[in-house]
Amino acid sequence: MTDTVDATAADRALKARHRAMWGLGDYPAVARDLIPELGRVLVAAAGVRRGERVLDVAAGTGNAAVPAALTGAEVVASDLTPELFPAGREFAARAGAELAWEEADAEALPYADASFDVVLSCVGVMFAPHHQQAADELVRVCRPGGRIGLVSWTPEGFVGEMFRTMKPYAPPPPPGAQPPPLWGDEQHVRGLFGDRVTDVVARRRTVTTSGWETPEAWRDYWKSVYGPTIATYRNIADDPERVAALDRDLAALAARYDRGAGGTVLDWEYLVLTARRA
Ligand SMILES: C[S@@+](CC[C@H](N)C(=O)[O-])C[C@H]1O[C@@H](n2cnc3c(N)ncnc32)[C@H](O)[C@@H]1O
Repeated sequence: MTDTVDATAADRALKARHRAMWGLGDYPAVARDLIPELGRVLVAAAGVRRGERVLDVAAGTGNAAVPAALTGAEVVASDLTPELFPAGREFAARAGAELAWEEADAEALPYADASFDVVLSCVGVMFAPHHQQAADELVRVCRPGGRIGLVSWTPEGFVGEMFRTMKPYAPPPPPGAQPPPLWGDEQHVRGLFGDRVTDVVARRRTVTTSGWETPEAWRDYWKSVYGPTIATYRNIADDPERVAALDRDLAALAARYDRGAGGTVLDWEYLVLTARRA
């Protein structure tokens, strides 16, 4: 009993840290300026249609939820970090979309079994630390015959490499947590869902990001907007040598990927995976 109480308290504290982390910087700008196409790609891949009941898990500012709502579907955008919802509501209003915004932990979704026709997550559920628990929740709330659609950064792509680059500088992961980019590995996701899904289709694609003069300019932008990177810098803030080393490592990563001529251009690889709930 005490163990269960302790585990629950520890998980609450962990989720509170994650919520605070995603509220740092300016995630709405990342979604709006760098990766808006990912939400549209996911909605198209999952074949969202008018009248369907759709849940977007770890929806952030509605990168997938808003285009899903524009199809005429009935959409709930859920996320651990409600601080992102005001920007999401503005995005929805600009787009002319109507949808609901609800605070929810992907590992304990507050929805009944089989209550959605389509369950989506765009570079979102991958950040819940316990992959099996989160996958079980996606399956549970999707009705039999319904669809699950995911976009996830791949381990081998730029964002996967960025997380590996930051790892030696970041706070140690909590016990039992798995690295987010594993969700970008088709076999890992197939293993999580097992025989509870059929018709798995997985494709690797890239999104091209640009707008910085140099790799260093990308790094300086990124360390000011992206919560996990800001949290990593905070972890080493009292050690200027490690800060300088992380500065160098992130700029070197961007330089290695940079294919721009007059400015930095980076391709970020992701996996689009869709499946049918058995
Ligand atoms: C990279 S953002 C993606 C947001 C949005 N789907 C998009 O495409 O822009 C990751 C999101 O995962 C959310 N998140 C992290 N851990 C979560 C959890 N355990 N449950 C629900 N959402 C979570 C964060 O709050 C954040 O909004």
